[in-house]
Amino acid sequence: MPTDVANQFRVTDASLPAVAADVLIVPIFDEDQPASLGLAAATADILTEARRVREFKAKPYEQFWTPLSTDGWETRRLLAVGAGAKADYTPDRARKVATAGTLAARQRGLGRVAFVLRSVNDDPYDAQAVAEGIQLGAFDADTYKTAARDTAPLAEVQIVARRATDALANAVERGRILGDCSNFARRLANEPSNVLTPRELADRAVQSCREVGLDVDVLDENRIAQLKMGLLMGVARGSAEPPRLIVMRHNPPGVTTGPILGLIGKGVTFDTGGISIKPADGMERMKDDMAGGAGVIGAMRAIALLKAPMRVIGLVPATENMPGGKAIKPGDILTGASGKTVEVINTDAEGRLILGDALWYARELGATHLVDVATLTGACVVALGKITAGLFATPQWWSDVVRRQADRSGDRCWPMPLFEEYAEQLRSEIADMMNVGGRPAGSITAAMFLKEFTGGLPWAHFDVAGTAWQEDSKPYQPKGPNGIAVRTLAELAFTSGEWAK
Ligand code: BES
Ligand code: MN
Ligand code: ZN
Repeated sequence: MPTDVANQFRVTDASLPAVAADVLIVPIFDEDQPASLGLAAATADILTEARRVREFKAKPYEQFWTPLSTDGWETRRLLAVGAGAKADYTPDRARKVATAGTLAARQRGLGRVAFVLRSVNDDPYDAQAVAEGIQLGAFDADTYKTAARDTAPLAEVQIVARRATDALANAVERGRILGDCSNFARRLANEPSNVLTPRELADRAVQSCREVGLDVDVLDENRIAQLKMGLLMGVARGSAEPPRLIVMRHNPPGVTTGPILGLIGKGVTFDTGGISIKPADGMERMKDDMAGGAGVIGAMRAIALLKAPMRVIGLVPATENMPGGKAIKPGDILTGASGKTVEVINTDAEGRLILGDALWYARELGATHLVDVATLTGACVVALGKITAGLFATPQWWSDVVRRQADRSGDRCWPMPLFEEYAEQLRSEIADMMNVGGRPAGSITAAMFLKEFTGGLPWAHFDVAGTAWQEDSKPYQPKGPNGIAVRTLAELAFTSGEWAK
């Protein structure tokens, strides 16, 4: 498994002058005085002056470089990263500041970074978020460029704290792993569909699971047929590539009771729309229609590495959506494994079809609580843009649990309604339901369709059509996939103590 970084982050409580690295990255708050940070003399008052004349305003993610004194300082360069007002320094802000600093350092060819923690009392979760952010900053999206890179790989990481405690070291290691598993998912989402076919996605999942000790089972087209998964088979019919259903299991030793978390990720390795074909403009983006599936594979990897205390099942239905000669056509009726019949009005609404069979199978395998992640609807992008994922969940307490974790992990989401009246838009004249409900409330009717397959279990659905892929490059997130939901899903497997009985 390629990792982007030397596999070790070190926590140090050495004094700043004694820290040896290529660059010292220091978050700077609005209210900071360089003197109080012990940086005034070492920067020959350049930082103080830059703050005074407001050349450097310490706005979030703003960067200011200056040399450090050669007199007693081991590190030559200082990168001050704006962190905004101290009161707004949440773990999410700290994570992004760390990513921004790491990316900027690497772009300058500096791969040995030392990052100074700025939270009150070296809060361990803040340190975890910083480690996540640094690791996210190690990601390179240019796998297929043949020219030499001019960015440095992240070679060495030190986290500078007031006191290097075990709690901090553990938090940093947790963050390092969560960041690495996010990058693993990003690499998958970045792969083109001619490389990452459903079979290849399954092979990569198997490889990852073997590395970390997860049980894994890949159902091929025959076993999918035996289970009568007519919705998944229906979508796969138009493609020359056979579908796969990836089944990953985390079974902590000795745990035979308690809840079983079921994680389901949409794994459409390319979505042409099928016979209801999409316009050419922007269609290349549909290689990332498996970002939800990548999120689940990455989360399962983290769950194993971090030894989550509960049982977890990860499911990824993987297929292409193509308009081949055998493709399903508008008006066709499919019967899913649950027995429900679906009139396919639009073959481009394929995600909900394959997820219907996968949600049913998660219940068959004993899942008690469900979360799915899917690049499901353009309508969700219209509703919430590219900043916030739609969260569709029931009952309320489960929605709250999932939302709290997503907020903490930096996967922005906002709750959307699931009033039963919306289901009327899916009513079919001829089958149990249609697969589309018209233009109004398009992301909600998609969620209502999924809900039909959840058997009344606590269930949460993230529509990440707008958020899985960043369209413009930001200081803390280059253009491309961001490893959506990996940290949220993995951490959820540690929260069962807070779940309602
Ligand atoms: N994969 C798409 C949704 C999507 C759109 C993801 C934009 C990322 C960016 C999904 O399969 C789809 O095509 N949805 C249709 C549903 C419609 C036919 C009801 C859509 O949103 O247009
Ligand atoms: Mn589609
Ligand atoms: Zn799709």
